[in-house]
Amino acid sequence: APVTSYQAESATISQGVVESNHAGYTGSGFVNYDNVAGAYVEFGVSAAATGPQTLTFRFANGTTTDRPMSITVNGGAAVTRSFPGTGAWSTWQEIAVQATLQAGANTVRATATTANGGPNLDRLSVTGPGDTQAPTP
Ligand code: GCU
Repeated sequence: APVTSYQAESATISQGVVESNHAGYTGSGFVNYDNVAGAYVEFGVSAAATGPQTLTFRFANGTTTDRPMSITVNGGAAVTRSFPGTGAWSTWQEIAVQATLQAGANTVRATATTANGGPNLDRLSVTGPGDTQAPTP
C-alpha cells in the first residue's frame, strides 16, 4: 500500500530535542523527548480522503521500562500505546495504530504519559486508502 513518511525531526516538538547520536534513524535524526510527562511531537498529516489509516511510529527505547504515549488525531479521543524497551537506543522498532483521518490536513500528536518522557521517535508513516503520495526514504 502507499505509504507517506513524516520525520519527527521536522514535526512540531514540545519538550524535546532533535538528536542524531544513535544510529539507525531515517532522515536526519530523531526526537529525544524530554524526560517529562506531557512532552509531545505533533505531525501534520495530509490525507486525500476521509477514512481509516494506519499510523506507524518508528521508535527506540534503550531502557527496560515502557515509555507509553497517548496518541490523538485532530485533538480527539486519546489512545495510549506501549513503547517498550527495544534493547538499545540504536535498535528501532515500529508500532501501528489504526485511526480515521479526514480529507485534507490532520494533526497526529504523540504525548508522553509518564515522567520518563517518550521513547526516541524517528518517524510516523501513514498508509491507507486515502493516501496517494509516493513512498519517501
Ligand atoms: C539517553 C539516550 C537518549 C535518550 C535518553 C532518555 O540519554 O542517549 O537518546 O533519549 O537516554 O532516557 O530519554
